[in-house]
Amino acid sequence: DSGAQGFADLKARTMACRECTIGARATQSVVGEGDPHAPLMLVGEQPGDQEDRLGHPFIGPAGHLLSTALHQAGIPRDRCFVSNAVKHFKFELRGKRRLHKSPGVREIDACRHWLEDEIARVRPQALVALGASAARSLLGRSIGVTALRGQWLAHEDGLPVLITLHPSAPLRGPPGERDAALAAFVRDLAQARRVFG
Ligand code: URA
Repeated sequence: DSGAQGFADLKARTMACRECTIGARATQSVVGEGDPHAPLMLVGEQPGDQEDRLGHPFIGPAGHLLSTALHQAGIPRDRCFVSNAVKHFKFELRGKRRLHKSPGVREIDACRHWLEDEIARVRPQALVALGASAARSLLGRSIGVTALRGQWLAHEDGLPVLITLHPSAPLRGPPGERDAALAAFVRDLAQARRVFG
């Protein structure tokens, strides 16, 4: 079932998931959204602070950068399916602020079956791994994304996976290098445009 009902069910099931320790502290799970039959599926790391509060993937600062980059690459975001390797927000409390903490390999691997479930429902023609955590989940092994960005690798069922960096990378870099970092990100993403025919 790849209709809205199917994804509602996935939301409820991931919400209750306690296969790792992240879920108990998060506000809610965040599952993939977009065209349920998208030819292209983009996979990030995990929901951030705003995604955790509002329940939708890539709606915070990294999401805005992703939207800008997709637009520049000629890829319609509304015709993509956008998801994450990990369905709950992992954070560290610093006063009142919740600071993002990268998920570990065990958490990524524990969450993998939820992402695989989404891939099976959407049946995209290609996937984009946005950063190391997504690449780990999609390939089942850790790779160096800086060296392999811009390359197509294969998911276990043969689906092509485009490797690139996480959209927060250009945001985190030195201000003088942000334009170049965004341009490089757009160049990577543009390789996936062909799935739209
Ligand atoms: N970063 C991600 O990897 N995913 C989101 O949904 C938001 C920020």
